[in-house]
Amino acid sequence: MSFPIVVLISGSGSNLQALIDQSLSGDLDIEIKAVISNKADAYGLTRAKDAGIPTHHLNHKEFESREAFDAALQTCIDQHQPKLVVLAGFMRILSEGFTRHYQGRMLNIHPSLLPKYKGLNTHQRAIDAGDEIHGVSVHFVSAELDAGAVIVQAKTDIDAEETADSLARKVHNLEHIIYPLAVKWFSQDRLKEVNNKAILDENPLAETGFAYN
Ligand code: GRF
Repeated sequence: MSFPIVVLISGSGSNLQALIDQSLSGDLDIEIKAVISNKADAYGLTRAKDAGIPTHHLNHKEFESREAFDAALQTCIDQHQPKLVVLAGFMRILSEGFTRHYQGRMLNIHPSLLPKYKGLNTHQRAIDAGDEIHGVSVHFVSAELDAGAVIVQAKTDIDAEETADSLARKVHNLEHIIYPLAVKWFSQDRLKEVNNKAILDENPLAETGFAYN
C-alpha cells in the first residue's frame, strides 16, 4: 500500500505538483489522500482536482480563534489517516496543540537556509544583507515558527543582478527536488525526529540538515 499523506496549501501549489508528478512517475510511492487549503482560490486546489485528489477548503476567517480553526483542521486531516502531513506553502501560524499532535510527522519547506531568515520576504532579505548564497530548507514542524529540526537544505548563488523574483524562481526549482526527497525518506522509514533532532538512516543530521548540493 502506498504511504498516505495529506498536503496543506494556501497558494499556487507548485510543491504539491512536484509531489503529484513524482508519485505518478513512480519515483515516490505515496498516496495523497487529500489537499486542504485555507484559501478558496488557491491554484493548488485545481492541481489536486486535476489529479483526482479529494480537496477541502477550510476558511480560517469563519473561526473565532486560531485554536478553533486548528481543531477543525486537525479533524479534517485525521479523517484521512495520513502517516505524514506536508505543509506546502500553508501560510498559517500553527497553535501549539496542533503542532504537538503532529510532532515528528509534519514537514514544512521554508525558502531560506535556516536558521537564517525565518518568516516572510526571505529572498529580498538575503539580497539586502549582501549574502552570496541563499537556499531552501525542509524541516520537521515544531511549535516555534520555522524552528524545527532541519532535514535537508539546497543552496543557490545570489548573482550580481539578482532580484527577489529571479532568486525565488531558482529556489523554487530546488524546492521541487528536495521536498519530494525528504518525503521519500520519511515514507521509506529512513527519516525520523528524536528529541528535536532529525535522524536519517540512524545517523543524527547536522543542524543544517543533509546538504543536497
Ligand atoms: C514556497 O516558496 C515554499 O518554500 C514556501 O511557500 C512557497 C510555496 O510555493 N513555504 P508553492 O505554493 O508550492 O508554489
